Amino acid sequence: MKKNLFVIIIFCLGQLSSYAWANQPDSTYLFAYTKNDGKRHNGLQFAWSVDSKNWHSIGPEFIFVRSDYGTEKKMLMPVLLHDPSGVWHCLWKASDRNEVYGHTASDNLFTWGRQDYSIEKKVYENAAKQLSSIEINGEKLTGTKLSVSWHIVEELIKTRRSAAFKEMLRRETIRDDSTRLRHLKPVQAKININTDDKKPISNMLIGAFFEDINYSADGGLYAELIQNRGFEYNVNDKLGKDLNWNNKMAWELKGAQASWTIDSVAPIHPNNKHYAKLQLSKVGAALVNEGFDGIPIKKNDKYNFSVFARSSSAKNGIFLIRLVGIHGEIYGETQTKNISKNWKKYDAVLTATETASDARLEIYPQFSGTIDMDMICLFPQKTFKERANGLRADLAQTIAEMKPKFIRFPGGCLVHGFGIDNMYHWKNTIGPLEKRKPQRNIWNYHQTVGLGYYEYFQFCEDIGAEPLPVVAAGVPCQNSEGGQQGGIPLNEMDKYVQDVLDLIEWANGGTNTKWGKIRAESGHPKPFNLRYIGVGNEDQISDVFEKRFTMIFDAIRDKHPEITVIGTSGPFNEGTDYQEGWTLANKLKVPMVDEHYYQSPGWFINNQDFYDSYDRNSAKVYLGEYAAHAKGGPNIESALAEALYLASVERNGDIVKMSSYAPLLAKEGHTQWNPDLIYFNNTEVKPTTGYYVQRIYGQNSGDEYLANQINMEGQSEEVKKRFAVSTVYDSRSGDLIIKIINMLPVTVKPLLNFEGKEIQKNVSISKQVLTGKPENKTAVPTVTKCSVNELLSGEILPYSLTVYRFKL
Ligand code: AHR
Repeated sequence: MKKNLFVIIIFCLGQLSSYAWANQPDSTYLFAYTKNDGKRHNGLQFAWSVDSKNWHSIGPEFIFVRSDYGTEKKMLMPVLLHDPSGVWHCLWKASDRNEVYGHTASDNLFTWGRQDYSIEKKVYENAAKQLSSIEINGEKLTGTKLSVSWHIVEELIKTRRSAAFKEMLRRETIRDDSTRLRHLKPVQAKININTDDKKPISNMLIGAFFEDINYSADGGLYAELIQNRGFEYNVNDKLGKDLNWNNKMAWELKGAQASWTIDSVAPIHPNNKHYAKLQLSKVGAALVNEGFDGIPIKKNDKYNFSVFARSSSAKNGIFLIRLVGIHGEIYGETQTKNISKNWKKYDAVLTATETASDARLEIYPQFSGTIDMDMICLFPQKTFKERANGLRADLAQTIAEMKPKFIRFPGGCLVHGFGIDNMYHWKNTIGPLEKRKPQRNIWNYHQTVGLGYYEYFQFCEDIGAEPLPVVAAGVPCQNSEGGQQGGIPLNEMDKYVQDVLDLIEWANGGTNTKWGKIRAESGHPKPFNLRYIGVGNEDQISDVFEKRFTMIFDAIRDKHPEITVIGTSGPFNEGTDYQEGWTLANKLKVPMVDEHYYQSPGWFINNQDFYDSYDRNSAKVYLGEYAAHAKGGPNIESALAEALYLASVERNGDIVKMSSYAPLLAKEGHTQWNPDLIYFNNTEVKPTTGYYVQRIYGQNSGDEYLANQINMEGQSEEVKKRFAVSTVYDSRSGDLIIKIINMLPVTVKPLLNFEGKEIQKNVSISKQVLTGKPENKTAVPTVTKCSVNELLSGEILPYSLTVYRFKL
């Protein structure tokens, strides 16, 4: 396409006059332009006119295609061309700072193909010769004027109207129930469950998506209590916007006749360049760490302290280590052995004498002179499953209770990174902590990668979840500077592809393989049984992407046909990347595609048929990131919208193989993305209403779907679409599980019929109900036993998710 573009433009320019001057009776003028030139996130708009004087905008302000270039996503001075084969081309300037020009093409002016930013300046400038200006309501607009048939304008108007209608549905909120459903009386629903009409569904439907966003890892799930333990924080972690964010962050030196600097002359390991160099003229000064918002400690609990240190001073001695309160109260004390001349690791154990949420760690060298320190760690002994370098027990337990069938890690955008230098490389995250390579986190802080690939795999194993690592597809985040046009240079791709293959060997290889041996040396001789690998994260499906993705995909398929590769389809449930992602997946026969969409509760209510029409014979779906974003944060409204939608996901469990709500964790006071599934601070875990929906679905999953029909006679669509039933059978336990979601403000009386089958009168039925007012953020499910009578003739509460589980 690119090579021919110049030729196409020359041709189109030749044609332009005939378009402009043709006197067809049904012709009209179309003007293509952008507004807000110079601002971010603008895009192509259209106006039409019959006389080229009085113009009508289609919208108003309706954007048909947006630029997806870099961080700014600008579309300046667009030129629209129509080539002889009927294809429309749009060319634009994508930056007012650099010479970057974009191109995309469309058959119909409303669905546009992938964007290409390798357009030469002369190509754009040649096309731009036809730019002209019009005025709408006194505003001068620059763009391209073409003469087109009225039919084209009509289609554009229809597209815009249909988008407006979809937007109206998307904006539906439970807050309008008092008007929308004001006359609604309690409803009856006949529910017919056909126990003989079954289909196998995925037994891995509910998983967890973990990304180090919102301080989910360092300061969160990773149990390390010392912040900036390696003195590697850097102003670039925050793009230079916070000068306090430097190697000394979270540390201070207290006491007289002492000073300290950051040195990098002879580090423990080149991956950890910086260390603290203290100069003490006398004993009494201490290096103090404030932790992540303080160090939480619990009375009588033990904490493992470690430090790498060296001192060339003639008379060395020990370090005195203290946990202290903010007013200097001593909450625990220990000491190391004598510090030697060369780098060496020293361990000691502290026992907390009090409970506090905001302790500090103090290290008092008991000798004077020059002292180097690095990798200063403090872990509770009570980590999850008491693993060394482990996870915070309460948070890990909360995740485990969801019974996720898999965990996706390490992201999200974190995977592809802010530019190729910031891509996440799994090899940097394994082995001894001092040899791992920390780096800037795309979410504007620092990642120690102490929670690295070994720990992720171990956590999966500990909770019986399948590991689902996601690697970058050789391109960085589309929202980083320069966007995804700057992929890994092709001559470096072989090495990158080999890294991905090495990951599979590291996870699954025997101890006689290079990488299997490295895994064994970390403490896990048995393979981790990796079965899935994600390649790419909601990337732009550009030529740059396709080339690199294909190289990685082909290599895995050839060397490891046993691994299921999961491709990607952009950040939305529609649009260019979604279409192109699926087209590419089908072309390459990628077995599964990762879909992402964050939507309003209204969208989830109105799209319960989203997967019903998916082709059963093409790639399977991993709904890798989704969440209902309700006004005011996660509440019963968003939770029930997710529950309603998950019922449709279960119904489509033959094609949707996995799903994971995103993001999983968020630390209070450090939350960059809302909503999240589980909020926490240093001492508390605060699951959301949405968490309980995930937990209910995770704990009550099945492997067969039983057909059900709901008859709500006399009720409108408005009512019907707010009520759903999902019936699954779990062959392992032999249980039938019925989930009933009522998003109506009234009770529903379900009349359950099992196609003539009787339920034994004495069967034990467990009942779980999550309910509350729509804006309720703290509801938790109740778990009870119920009788057969109640199952068959009880009432389903307004705004509730009810689950019955029993043996049929
Ligand atoms: O879940 C938060 C972010 O949302 C992920 O990092 C990214 O993949 C998506 O845009």
